[in-house]
Amino acid sequence: MGKFHPLYLHYSELPWSMRTLFTATLLVMATGYLFALLHLYGSHAGRDGEPGLSIKDVVIAYSGSKESTRLESALRGPMASMLPTSEANKIFGWIHGGLDKAVFEKDIDSIMEKRCLACHDGSNPHIPQLGGYDNVLETAQLDEGVDIFTLVRVSHIHLFGLTFIFFITSLIFSHAYVRPVWLKSVIVAFPFVTILLDIFSWYLTKIFEPFAYVIVISGGLMGGCFAFMWVVSMYQMWLFKVSARFAARSAPRRAIG
Ligand code: HEC
Repeated sequence: MGKFHPLYLHYSELPWSMRTLFTATLLVMATGYLFALLHLYGSHAGRDGEPGLSIKDVVIAYSGSKESTRLESALRGPMASMLPTSEANKIFGWIHGGLDKAVFEKDIDSIMEKRCLACHDGSNPHIPQLGGYDNVLETAQLDEGVDIFTLVRVSHIHLFGLTFIFFITSLIFSHAYVRPVWLKSVIVAFPFVTILLDIFSWYLTKIFEPFAYVIVISGGLMGGCFAFMWVVSMYQMWLFKVSARFAARSAPRRAIG
């Protein structure tokens, strides 16, 4: 049993109210993480035309696709549920057939009106306007992936949001008993490194596609650190046998309250 830093307190030495707060926070945080993963899947899976999530979907999301247009990747990915397959195929046929204006007016315009204009009527400036040939044509140009301004917006949200999440999670985890101490510190620091790696790779993937692997690997490592801290914190908070380790030094403190 080594020595402890005088400011280090194990969960077993903390008041009930604090352990309850930590537990409630971790439970809601894990639910949040789960929904983030569902959102990730929903917004990227199928972009390459194959079901499921692959590295190619990530490349297309950030750097675009040399074969596909923004309209087509949206219709194969996040917008796929907005219309029946037969209508989506009509739109793909129109795109690959050379974006003919007469065909648009005969077949495509009515589909857009029925399935898309409820949201894409121009009232929301963040999503493309799909009313009329010219507007639709703009989204049917070669897909260049997420535009830089959107990336900047999402970056600042992620940088602040993830810093909060990992600050809170690591602060809770800092009360865990993990040896060697350097390993504990590495686990605390690592997610912050992966946040930066992940976000800078979004931009770099636009220039050099293999950075999509860095996005996926850093995201995975971030999740791994979160899971590790979560499980160790919860376990040590409620199930860890403390007796010999901390009881001796915390006895006088407990007596004071
Ligand atoms: C219920 C509202 C809604 C409907 C209906 C809808 N969309 Fe969208 N669409 C959105 C939102 C919100 C976004 C932005 C978020 C995103 O990209 O997932 C979006 C984004 C898009 C984008 C841009 C994707 C990108 O990569 O930037 C395209 C293209 C698109 N939609 C096409 C369509 C088409 C075509 C239809 C009809 C078949 C349709 N949408 C129906 C809400 C809708």
